[in-house]
Amino acid sequence: MKKTTWLALSFFAVMELPAQKILPVVGPGKTVDPFHYAIRKGGEFQNGVVVTAHPLASKVGAAILQNGGNAFDAAIAVQLTLAVVYPGAGNIGGGGFLIGRTVKGKIVAIDYREKAPAAASKNMYLDADGNAQTQLSQNGHLASGVPGTIAGLASSFKYAKLPWAALVQPAIDLAEQGFAITEREARSLNSTIKDFIKYSTVPSPFVSREVWKAGDTLIQKQLAATLKRIRDNGAKGFYEGETARLIVEEMKRGKGLITLTDLKNYKAAVRDAIHFNYRGYDIYGFPPPSSGGIIVGQLLKMIEPYPIASYGFHSVKATQLMIETERRAYADRAEHLGDPDFWKVPVKTLLSKKYLDERMKDYHTDRASVSSSIKAGVIHESEETTHLSIMDAEGNMVAVTTTLNGGYGSRTVVGGAGFLLNNEMDDFSVKPGVPNMFGAIGNEANAIVPGKRMLSSMAPTLMLKDGQPYVVVGTPGGTTIPTSVFQSIVNIVDFNMTAEDAVNKPKFHHQWLPDEVSLEKGFEPDTAEALKKMGYTIKASSAIGRTELIKITGGKKQAAADKRGDDSVAGY
Ligand code: GLY
Repeated sequence: MKKTTWLALSFFAVMELPAQKILPVVGPGKTVDPFHYAIRKGGEFQNGVVVTAHPLASKVGAAILQNGGNAFDAAIAVQLTLAVVYPGAGNIGGGGFLIGRTVKGKIVAIDYREKAPAAASKNMYLDADGNAQTQLSQNGHLASGVPGTIAGLASSFKYAKLPWAALVQPAIDLAEQGFAITEREARSLNSTIKDFIKYSTVPSPFVSREVWKAGDTLIQKQLAATLKRIRDNGAKGFYEGETARLIVEEMKRGKGLITLTDLKNYKAAVRDAIHFNYRGYDIYGFPPPSSGGIIVGQLLKMIEPYPIASYGFHSVKATQLMIETERRAYADRAEHLGDPDFWKVPVKTLLSKKYLDERMKDYHTDRASVSSSIKAGVIHESEETTHLSIMDAEGNMVAVTTTLNGGYGSRTVVGGAGFLLNNEMDDFSVKPGVPNMFGAIGNEANAIVPGKRMLSSMAPTLMLKDGQPYVVVGTPGGTTIPTSVFQSIVNIVDFNMTAEDAVNKPKFHHQWLPDEVSLEKGFEPDTAEALKKMGYTIKASSAIGRTELIKITGGKKQAAADKRGDDSVAGY
């Protein structure tokens, strides 16, 4: 951790002003007002730009860039800010993946996915009759893996320029003084209040009102104190000392498994990014323990032999081809993908042309293939993960997808520490054939083992054109993440769309099991009808993804924040 002096910090200190007037200060002249802010959906920027799920987080990120930080600095400050202003998915009690490219061309892939605690075991969510008890993997103390986020941020800090404390301070300011919540956040908190009460052992700020409404101030003093320990002690401020003690006490009160040793032993991992070429563009995705990079790679490489642009956007021919590739890639996910530290993932084969050509041999242009009769669950709308895309003026690019898994994770707030814990254990295959909350099934590759990382679908992705930064993209959405990223890339490369259209056009999704196609509202009805006639089961879906995308065009950074949420861009 770089040593930070209070002198260096003085630019970032919070002025003592009357309540409600205190602004979090990110730097000289670049302040963010937590009580008056607007959502901005897009724009073109000459220098740096940040796209996130919340306007305050985007503004903090842009202010960090304007105060001398680079994309890695901004990514750290934004993730901590999201933990305050977007508690449903932003987190310090969860995990994520960062993929970045430095201005010198180095690709950085940092894995800070949660791990199963040492006391976890393969059948921990099965009852005496062998039936899966997914309420335990999805809610409350037993659902939490060992959090990775702070270790990940500390690991990415070596690429940053500003003092660590300066990157943590905006989040502290927002937690301590509060901020005005959006209408969407008010609705989301209101629908979760009962669960916060049920799954927490102490009251939290989330239950400080019976009913939340837009404009109410959310103050999180205990979270601010936790963030101060992280500011002052780096990762040790989370994994050791007071914060670790509070987590373990919470585990004891709720019969959870995470111990002081689990916390102390947690390390982020540096991985080799997935790299492939699609129609001349270099694409970098996240490798296992996320399935994201492999699935996006398989999908793009399976459609590459076909002239999809000539078929037309959302034409029957293009859509059916893409659905069939999705079916095949998700079947591979269920069988072959897991934490590479515990399971040999055949990455090269899964992405090889020979293998993918073979996979598409039984694809017929006139009818639906059939997945299997194995029963699987339904796909849920999911805003519970979150993604941020950043490009700076120097030429660094960063994509981060981070999550608590379900909305507000396990709904357990760590008593005295003020932050939510993840329910990421549900992303393991708790029993072969039993779907997780996203309807994904798995097998031995993703079985629970102490210290193992659960399989993810997160797909933070970078694209280069002629060796230069071109696109940063990613989205939340559980198993729909890779299909959303896939379709956003196809929209740009094959259908020549703007960032805004690439993100906002309706999406579709197939994940092998359940054997059905989910179509977002507004999807071409004639195509839907034709697919039905070919034998596809069509399901109407709620919003698919909340994609944040930046694309270089005409020398400028064209940014789009998904219309499906409060997502917002900020840049200069
Ligand atoms: N928790 C969702 C994912 O990692 O895919």
